[in-house]
Amino acid sequence: MDLSLGGRRALVTGSSSGIGEGIARMLAAEGARVVVHGRNRDRAEGVAAAIGAAGVAIGDLSSDAGAVAVHDAAREALGGAIDILVNNAGGSSTGNTSKAPIDIPVADWVSNYHANMLPAVRLCRLAVPDMVAAGWGRVINVSSAVAVQPNNLGADYSGAKAALNNFTVSLAGSLKGVGVTANIVSPGIIMVDGLLRFGRRKFGDATLSIEQVTQRLAAEKVFDLPPAGRLGTPEDLAAVVCLLASPLSGFVTGANYRVDGGQVRSLN
Ligand SMILES: NC(=O)c1ccc[n+]([C@@H]2O[C@H](COP(=O)([O-])OP(=O)(O)OC[C@H]3O[C@@H](n4cnc5c(N)ncnc54)[C@H](OP(=O)(O)O)[C@@H]3O)[C@@H](O)[C@H]2O)c1
Repeated sequence: MDLSLGGRRALVTGSSSGIGEGIARMLAAEGARVVVHGRNRDRAEGVAAAIGAAGVAIGDLSSDAGAVAVHDAAREALGGAIDILVNNAGGSSTGNTSKAPIDIPVADWVSNYHANMLPAVRLCRLAVPDMVAAGWGRVINVSSAVAVQPNNLGADYSGAKAALNNFTVSLAGSLKGVGVTANIVSPGIIMVDGLLRFGRRKFGDATLSIEQVTQRLAAEKVFDLPPAGRLGTPEDLAAVVCLLASPLSGFVTGANYRVDGGQVRSLN
């Protein structure tokens, strides 16, 4: 299938590692001009060189000024406005695993809002007007399975992702007939370097393979394997993001695509 992504200008936030890196790599392989983003310049430049990106944009998206700097740098590297905005940067900023919601300090709720919800709001405020003016654009927000089915990862994190979902559907509803779509992609548990390092550290063996770490973490009930019988990969996410970014997906907006191996048990 030809996704017709050639020459489209894309910013993938948080693409200096993990899921974002996988998304940036696949968009670039499909012919898009991609800007790699992160806070760490060395990591971002390493990924950009490896995937043949148009450039990098460096900045912390937990502040308005950081988002403006990232948006400006991306536009410059792309030589024009952003067509495809993938808001992927995030992750729990507090690590309140297994804490009851009422034991989580208010500051942690605010922190996760800044890490997981407001970066997308900030960048959409900057980039979407250009998409509307051009009559074409794609916003894809990377949320989490826990936004709709909270677990023990911390209600401050899952609550911020739920707010991101709500924002995305509201945004889609406000973009009537202008050629710009806004959708959510919700990962389940994805095997990224951080999880592999966590597992190897936990079991004191730096040689463990991804499969061995997965099986041992599942055996210790750190998580349950989903019906797919394995954890997800960044490529699992990237494939769905590329499809949503494509002109072929023009009738898909305000949707939440779960890429979780069947983790969330829900009919919609
Ligand atoms: N992995 C999973 O199992 C999983 C499951 C559900 C949802 N998710 C979501 O998927 C997204 C990517 O997660 P991941 O596991 O791939 O994480 P990761 O490997 O830790 O990568 C996170 C990326 O986001 C960047 N980043 C984080 N906070 C930022 C901020 N405030 N400003 C700018 N950049 C920031 C990091 O940049 P630097 O490294 O340069 O700082 C890095 O590029 C996140 O939104 C996460 O919530 C992940």
